[in-house]
Formats: sequence, structure tokens, C-alpha cells
Amino acid sequence: MKKQLLDMMICPRCLPQEYPLVLENGTTRADDIDNGTLVCDQCGHRFPIIGGVALLDPFTTANQQMVDKYETDELVSSYLWSHFSDLMHEEQASQAYATWAGLIREQTGVALDAGGAVGRFTFEMSTRCDFAVGIDTSQAFIRAARQLMRQGTMTVSIKDEGLLRREFTIILPAVWRRERVEFVVANALALPFPAQSIAVFTSLNLVDKVPSPLAHLREMNRVTHHQQAQFLLSDPFSWSSEAAPAAEWLGGTNQGRFAGRGLANIIRLLSDKQGELAPAWSVDKPGSVWWTIRTHSNHYELIRSYFVHASR
Ligand SMILES: C[S@@+](CC[C@H](N)C(=O)[O-])C[C@H]1O[C@@H](n2cnc3c(N)ncnc32)[C@H](O)[C@@H]1O
Repeated sequence: MKKQLLDMMICPRCLPQEYPLVLENGTTRADDIDNGTLVCDQCGHRFPIIGGVALLDPFTTANQQMVDKYETDELVSSYLWSHFSDLMHEEQASQAYATWAGLIREQTGVALDAGGAVGRFTFEMSTRCDFAVGIDTSQAFIRAARQLMRQGTMTVSIKDEGLLRREFTIILPAVWRRERVEFVVANALALPFPAQSIAVFTSLNLVDKVPSPLAHLREMNRVTHHQQAQFLLSDPFSWSSEAAPAAEWLGGTNQGRFAGRGLANIIRLLSDKQGELAPAWSVDKPGSVWWTIRTHSNHYELIRSYFVHASR
């Protein structure tokens, strides 16, 4: 973990109180903390840093089953393909990440990509902001993202057909500022960052995967600036009781506070001047992109992800 992140982070267990984390027994290499422990000086909780990866998720998540699937080698290689295949000119690659990146204006301050997986969008944000952090509950995803951050390149074995595999090499564009990004294991429902510390917050294909979508939006709102802030949310709204009970969904039902479509309900929450996401956000015209996940050479999932970009 880059040393400069130490000053930016707080204990995620003590929220909404904000207490610093102090490094104990840190072993460092240049500006990187390789191993050590981050200790909360209030609750005493100890968060390890192992092989450069800071483990700051305060929950053993309630949706452990969902999270575990994101720890498998197959899913890591699948997401590496999904995130970087357009750059490597793969035939079936989608332009989703480039489209989402095109929606974000340059902005002073720190960008946070929640549920950022293997890092594509965090790298994109290194060209728009002063610093970009990717957080995810999957340690395997964060390890892969950090490897790319350190080396700028990676070769992975991806499934071709049956037991046949082929190599897929990723080379990051030189314009991405790898020295300005970091990835940590953390939870979108209890972020290790103080209130109003984030200028650009992104949540791509995450809101339907967390046990409390509204808590995710509240947490987004807590950490983002009250002025000079941008928020981009995109999601296929594949509501599922595997991730969250139906009573928690922000759409996809015909009863209750969030009856109707998820995108419309989220736009309403963001725009509400007196609501729980105030100060209100000004919302641009929403849209959608086709996003592709690859399983093997002859099997791709094509997902329509609806986005909304908002500023305040
Ligand atoms: C469908 S994937 C989307 C990944 C990425 N944002 C993208 O669009 O390519 C959902 C991601 O959210 C992560 N995730 C699930 N629950 C989370 C939580 N509570 N906090 C942070 N990340 C979470 C998963 O590990 C996974 O990487």
C-alpha cells in the first residue's frame, strides 16, 4: 500500500466517528508498505497489510457466498479480460469502460471506485484526478489490480474451450499514471475514508450486489465533497435475493418506497433537495452501455448497464 494513503484513511469500524489508523511494524519498499498492521487508536482493531494489500473490510460480509465467487482464479481472469480486452483489441471486447470514463470531467482531488474489481476504472481515473483509489471486498481482485499497478503488464491464462487455454497479455497505456493509483480491500458499506474526502465517486455494476443498496448510496454521499463532486453509477439492476432481500432493493418491485425501476428511483434519491443524499445532485441525461463478461471462447455474457452521471 502506498504510504500516502495512510494520511487519507480512517478506521471503518468506528464510523461515523473518524479515528486515524496508525502503522505498526511496517516493512517498506520505496514508498510502498509491504507488510504491517494498521491499528485504530480508538477501538484497537488491527487491520493487516499482507504483500502490499491492506485488508480494511470491517465485516466478514453477510453476503459471503457472493463475495467468494469473486475470489476464484476463473473469475479473476474473466474480469481481467472484461476490463482490458478493448485495449488489447480483442474481437469481442466491449467499449463500456471507455464510455463510462468519457462521462467523467477532470477534477481536482481523489477519485474512489467502489467495487472496482481488477482496476480498469481506477486506472482511468488516474488521468482525471490527482489520485485514484479502487476498493473491493475480493482479495484476489485487489492482488491482480496491484500487480498491474506495479508492473504495468500481466499475462493471464484464459479458458479457450474445455481444458484448452490461451494466454492473454495486458499492457497498460503509458498515459495511465500508475504512481497515482492504489487498491485496497474494503467494503462499500463502511469505507475507510473521512466525510467529504472524495471528489469523484464511481459505482459500476455494484449496487445490485451489496446487501443494502441504500446504505451503499448513503456511504457514497458521506464520503463525497458537498461541492465540486461527481458521481457515476451504472448497473444492470439484476436484483437478486442472493445479494440482498427484496425489501432492500431500490427497484424491481411493484410495491413499497422503491416500486418501479432502479435507475428512476436512484435519480429521484439523488435529486431530492431534502432527502438522505442531500446536498442534492444535479443529474445528467441517463444512458446505457453494453458490457461483456467472458467465460470462454464461445461464451460471453452481454449485460446492459444503465448509467447516471451526477454533479454537485
Ligand atoms: C459485478 S462486479 C463489478 C466490478 C466492476 N465495478 C466492473 O464494473 O467491472 C461487482 C464487484 O463488487 C465487489 N463487491 C461486492 N460486494 C462488495 C462490497 N460490499 N464492497 C465492495 N466491493 C464489493 C465484487 O468483489 C466485484 O468485484
